Formats: sequence, structure tokens, C-alpha cells
Amino acid sequence: MEKPNSENRKIFLSPPDISGRERVLVDEVFDSNFIAPAGEMLTRFENDMCAYTGIKHAVALSSGTAALHLALRIAGIGPGDEVWTSSMTFIGGASPIIYLGAVPVFFDLSPDSWTIDCDLLEENLKEAAHSGKLPKAIVPTDLYGQSCDLDRLVDLSAQFDVPIIADSAEALGAFFKGRHAGKGTHSAILSFNGNKIITTSGGGMLLSDDPKTIEYARKLSTQAREPVVHYEHTEIGYNYRMSNVCAAIGVGQLEQIEEKITKRRAIFERYVEAFSKFQGVGFMPEPKDRRSSRWLTCLTIDPDMQDARLDNILSVCDAAQIEVRPLWKPMHMQPVFANTRFVGSGFCERLFATGLCLPSGSALSGQDQDRVIDIITGALRVSG
Ligand SMILES: Cc1ncc(COP(=O)(O)O)c(C=O)c1O
Repeated sequence: MEKPNSENRKIFLSPPDISGRERVLVDEVFDSNFIAPAGEMLTRFENDMCAYTGIKHAVALSSGTAALHLALRIAGIGPGDEVWTSSMTFIGGASPIIYLGAVPVFFDLSPDSWTIDCDLLEENLKEAAHSGKLPKAIVPTDLYGQSCDLDRLVDLSAQFDVPIIADSAEALGAFFKGRHAGKGTHSAILSFNGNKIITTSGGGMLLSDDPKTIEYARKLSTQAREPVVHYEHTEIGYNYRMSNVCAAIGVGQLEQIEEKITKRRAIFERYVEAFSKFQGVGFMPEPKDRRSSRWLTCLTIDPDMQDARLDNILSVCDAAQIEVRPLWKPMHMQPVFANTRFVGSGFCERLFATGLCLPSGSALSGQDQDRVIDIITGALRVSG
């Protein structure tokens, strides 16, 4: 079999970047024998995350999806309740609404930030308040490493008395006016799956400034056991806790978060330099009041400038062993959500039709990024 070299080795979209003290910390866990879902590393990971985000309390969980499930349940979401959320997201940001028998309503994005359109939200909240049909919660997505407009969301939440649960799964290290994504909302979730800016191999976290929310989430995540010596249960919980071993990886990864963001932002800048000279090529905006983590570099190609150019780029990259992906297919376009309501003009549909995510991992070498740039430049020239 041919051995991979720098020419034919696959370049992934956002692979894990294990380059710090992760292994030493995992060894510490093994030495302590606390490899079960309990132990000091979990507390350390939660405390470190609170210190980094400025959100006061946190519980480490098995996934971001689990975190959202718990957040919605704690917010009292049940059968028939409406939950308003961003349409352009990963399904893990929407399926917990269904787990609880609730009804998702999908919202469009603002072209200025690619995060939920707050004007649209406000307009619809006013109408819903008028007809007595307010949603039970709003779950805005901090897309591709960009925080939503926290000022507007927090104001709307207070004005209409609807809790905001920030889906910050993709946005560790994203800030809005100096506040971390999700800060000031009812609760926020993070994901540490394999392609995120930091990973614990798989995992997530629920964060909130409200201690009771996190205390209750901790209980629900460990089968809702009552605090007595025997196994006593008065309600149904889940097996959602993160393991102490995974938490050790998380502690080591989080120590390097700012370096990882610096690298991803530099990767983004190089793509901009290489591709913005092509007419019709655009990039995800970053409003002045935000710092994006640039988790993934997202590029768009004006459909008037090309015929099936996206398909061409995707197939050329595939042949060159470079993982490039279309942007998230909006949830209201998914067969599984065929009968749900969508609110907006279809900006996210246009993004899906014209956008791509490029390899953006913090361990991407200069040489590998050159390879990506060469291949895509060739494809842009051919169809230009
Ligand atoms: C926006 C969004 N929400 C939720 C999730 C779910 O997180 P997890 O994969 O850790 O369950 C993800 C990521 O995977 C995501 O990108």
C-alpha cells in the first residue's frame, strides 16, 4: 500500500490538535485510579471553563446534545411547547427539542453576522405576545465560532420573559463586546466533539450564572439520584456525565485555547488573502463588536459568477484528499423537519447553496494550507 506523504495525505476539515499537557494529565487520572465519571479533573475542567468564559457555574457532560437536552428540560420545555431556534445549525442543536416533544420553529440569520436575525425575532415575539403564543424558549446558534448579539437577545428575553439557551457548541473563544458567547443568557452549551476548537474526544458542557440550574443539571445527568445513601429516585434522569479521563484531556486542551484561536484566525486571513482576489468570493463577516474564533473558515461564491462552481470545488478537493464541506443544510430544509415552520426570507438557504467550509484545524501546517489554496485556486480559475 502506498504510504501517505505530504502530497497525498488527507487534509481534514478540523481534526483534533493534541499539542499540550493532555497526556500528562490523563496519566495523572490513571495514577489516581479515578477513571470513572467522578474525580478531581472534572471539577478542574469545570472551574477552568468558568474562569475562561466568565460564566459562573458549569457541569461537564457526555456531549453538547446532552447539554442542550438538559438545558431545555430544566427550562420546563415539554410536549407541544414552541422553541424558536436558528435554522442553520447542526442537528444536535435541534433534536433535543424533539426529544422533549416540543415544536421547533426555525429562524433565518442576519447577513451581517450569520447569527439569528434579532429584528425578525423581535417582530415575531411582538406578534406572538399579542396572540398569547410566546415560545417557551429561544435557542440561538453561535455559528461557526461567532457569538450572537448578546445585548439584543438579553433585552428580548427580559422584555418578553422568554429564556434564552445559547447554543455555543461551535463558539468556545467567541466574544461579544468582551463577553464570552452565551454569557448573560439563561444557560449556554458547549461541545467538545472531535472537530471542535478543543476536544475531549467527545463531550459537552452546560454553563449558567444560576447555581440552581447547574446543580439540577448535575443531578439529572447522573440518573437523578437523590442525595441519600441508597439509590432513591423521585424523577427520571439520564446517564450524561463526562468521565474524569475525558475531563483531563479537556483541561490540557483548554490551557491552549488562545493559541488555537490565534492559529485559526491566521488560517482564515491566509485564505482571505488567497481567494478574495477572485470576483464573487466572499467570507463570513465579523462585526466590529465581536471576536470570532474562526472555528471554520466559511467562504461563499456568488452564484451569478459561476455555474456549479461549488460542486466543482468539492469534487476537485475530494480527488486531492482535501476535506471541504458545504455549510450546514438549514434544518427547515431537512426531510426530518419537513412540516416545521420557517421564519425569514431564505438568507440561510442562499448560504447553503453558495457556501463552503475550508480546512481550518489549528494544527494545519503552512505546507498543507498551501496545498488547499493551490487546489482551490485551480478550481476557481477553471470555472472563472
Ligand atoms: C451548533 C451545534 N449544536 C449542537 C452540537 C452538538 O454537540 P455534540 O456533537 O457534542 O453532541 C454541535 C456539534 O456537534 C453543533 O455544532
